[in-house]
Amino acid sequence: MIGVFDSGLGGLTVLKALVEHLPNQKFVYLGDTARLPYGAKSGETILKYTEQNLHFLKKLNVQALVIACNSASAHWHSPEFEGLPVFTVIHPTSAQAAKLTRNKRVGLLATRATVGSNSYVKSLQEIDPAIELYAQAAPLLVPFAEEGLVNDPLTNLIVYRYAQPLLAENIDTLILGCTHYPILKEALYKVCGAQVELIESGHAVAAELTAYLEKNPQMTVAHSKTPRITVLTTDSSEHFKKWAQEILSPISVDQWNLVDLA
Ligand code: DGL
Repeated sequence: MIGVFDSGLGGLTVLKALVEHLPNQKFVYLGDTARLPYGAKSGETILKYTEQNLHFLKKLNVQALVIACNSASAHWHSPEFEGLPVFTVIHPTSAQAAKLTRNKRVGLLATRATVGSNSYVKSLQEIDPAIELYAQAAPLLVPFAEEGLVNDPLTNLIVYRYAQPLLAENIDTLILGCTHYPILKEALYKVCGAQVELIESGHAVAAELTAYLEKNPQMTVAHSKTPRITVLTTDSSEHFKKWAQEILSPISVDQWNLVDLA
């Protein structure tokens, strides 16, 4: 079983890609909805929450951990947690962007915590020092994604407000540096146009985990009758459940539970 976490719904965009790449794995997803948003908090607080979440998932006997949150990934610098492999989103997402940019001008939309950490600048520099990164914090996008305002003139306007300065820099690739943003993909496509490549974290991290599991086949368990996809949240909300199921569709959640991390 693989443990995955995010502050809320955003990581479900990663979970969906993981399930598509790894149909024989079981997943437990933790959405720390009681403490959302992470992206507006300090690095120390984000790191403390990350450690608590990893610890909680480890107790559920997972074999690998995925930090499906850019804000948390940006503050986590170890490939393992208490002996378990940890997969984060920054490196695979950067590698994907570096592969696809043609003019080496890459944009980043992310939370304030992710932009402030400079993680994407460092990661892209390591991959290709010729790449210029133009970053823009987009704090209003997470509540819009959580609300499910995917097809709304207000969302288009806010996306325009954040993306415009990056488009003015002639970027040809835009990193969606928050796992909530793919939920607003329609508005992002509308604003950025077909000439800008939008980069999501989901498939990039799923490919990395898949390669790891291929080298460690003992970790791939066949389906059994026990639930395949479990979603845990730290706060209860009918809206979350309904919207989460829509984001994951056609994949369905087998079990939902409210949990206390303490
Ligand atoms: N989905 C998270 C990320 O990728 C953060 C959203 C938030 O809690 O601010 O950064």
